[in-house]
Amino acid sequence: FKRPKIALIGGGQIGGVLAQLCALRELGDVVMYDIVEDMPQGKCLDIAEASRVDGFDVEVKGTNDYKDIEGADICIVTAGLPRKPGMSRDDLLTTNANIIKTVAENIKQYAPDSHVIVISNPLDAMVTLMREVTGFPHNRVYGQAGVLDSSRFASFIAWELGVSVKDINALVLGGHGDTMVPLVRYANVNGIPVMELLERKYGDAAKAKEVMDAIVERTRKAGGEVVALLKKGSAFYSPASSAIAMAEAVLRDQKRVLPVCAWLDGEYGVNGMYLGVPVILGANGVEKVIELSLNDEEQAMLDNSVNAVKKLIEDMKRLGFL
Ligand code: APR
Repeated sequence: FKRPKIALIGGGQIGGVLAQLCALRELGDVVMYDIVEDMPQGKCLDIAEASRVDGFDVEVKGTNDYKDIEGADICIVTAGLPRKPGMSRDDLLTTNANIIKTVAENIKQYAPDSHVIVISNPLDAMVTLMREVTGFPHNRVYGQAGVLDSSRFASFIAWELGVSVKDINALVLGGHGDTMVPLVRYANVNGIPVMELLERKYGDAAKAKEVMDAIVERTRKAGGEVVALLKKGSAFYSPASSAIAMAEAVLRDQKRVLPVCAWLDGEYGVNGMYLGVPVILGANGVEKVIELSLNDEEQAMLDNSVNAVKKLIEDMKRLGFL
């Protein structure tokens, strides 16, 4: 019996939290690759030396050699630059596309049977490029964005209603950018529609809508809110937690229903494109895309998001990446 092997490509802010969470949950042995010499080795040694205190029996090792990712079951990719204040995720396109291309070539060479979870931004474009360069089947290449966007949406709803976030179900569709689509109509507290609870709280439908509009807007801009506060770099704890939830669903074949940046082949009226949608995530990666019936307003917002992602894909084609 062998423990699963998890390769983390990129050992920066998110990569470090990923490694620690993999260890704490004993998801498998971890190898962290980064181009910066000695840094991943140092970070991993630091995490591994807490094994007695935290009580985990997995290896955590850093490397500057892609050969060490050989045999990985899952690669989680965070290589690339994060945003600085005032930047949009799309501003990272050229720099990160160059990095992801190299990363993808090496994953293809050294871990040809692995699943790949991409976190690097602009997310939808980087997942597309990863899949194109590796040539892996679409169900094995997917991106983390929706789990985090939905967790942010759920957190804001819980804080507003003063109830446990564990009872909130809230879903965000679409691309990982300002056009993302928080689905208000489907948001609920243990089955009770959120809008009904907001209307009870305020005794006024118009006020309830105003409060929800503000939550939706905050959700769309939540990444930027953190960037503005951190000043150097972007969110890292929550993206790492979100990707670990996805990795765990795959490694433990949980068949979880999670919003994932997945390949669409006609679903939602979208043909041949990566986009954030709910899927069943299990041992075969994206096992099924779950379609929801959207009303006209929701469909229009999704179409808008599709167009924003299409624009990024066009830019990548123009720049010769695709
Ligand atoms: N190969 C491997 N690693 C690389 C490469 C490369 N070619 N180029 C850069 N890196 C590494 C950097 O050395 C750094 O350690 O990627 C790491 C990125 O870490 P951070 O700068 O700390 O960024 P982080 O906050 O982890 O975010 C990474 O995820 O959410 C997205 O927008 C975010 O694109 C960014 C990515």
